[in-house]
Amino acid sequence: MPDYGFLSQQLNALCDGVNEPISLLANASALLYNTLENVNWAGFYLLRGQTLLLGPFQGKPACVCIEAGKGVCGTAIARGKTMRVDDVHTFPGHIACDEASRSELVIPLRKDGALYGVLDIDSPLPARFSEQDQAGLEKFARILDSYL
Ligand code: SME
Repeated sequence: MPDYGFLSQQLNALCDGVNEPISLLANASALLYNTLENVNWAGFYLLRGQTLLLGPFQGKPACVCIEAGKGVCGTAIARGKTMRVDDVHTFPGHIACDEASRSELVIPLRKDGALYGVLDIDSPLPARFSEQDQAGLEKFARILDSYL
């Protein structure tokens, strides 16, 4: 498991003084993709009305629009809570952008308390994300919230 404290420090260093969300999220996706092991996609979908729109990411090209309530990302935004899915094949309505993906972690982002989008991380391994990973990455998301 990565040192999530150090990851948070790196995120703060990258975000300090940056006032453009797209730039923050682009660097955050690169940091996650290059730090986390066994991850094939790491990035963001941004809420536009009732639709999640593809934002900065690292990995294979992905679907551009996801309706709230659809897939793992849309479910996370509709519920306003983290979705940790050990086997995406058993998740009703999972949207397969990369058929190699087996497990997924989706964490809602908020700006000034209002839903802003989601952080989405995919892995080719089943059950890649532990409770500890979830806790570390939720802290990461809370730091991002503070810069949005
Ligand atoms: N699997 C997601 C779609 C986004 S991709 O994984 C990048 C979902 O079911 O919402």
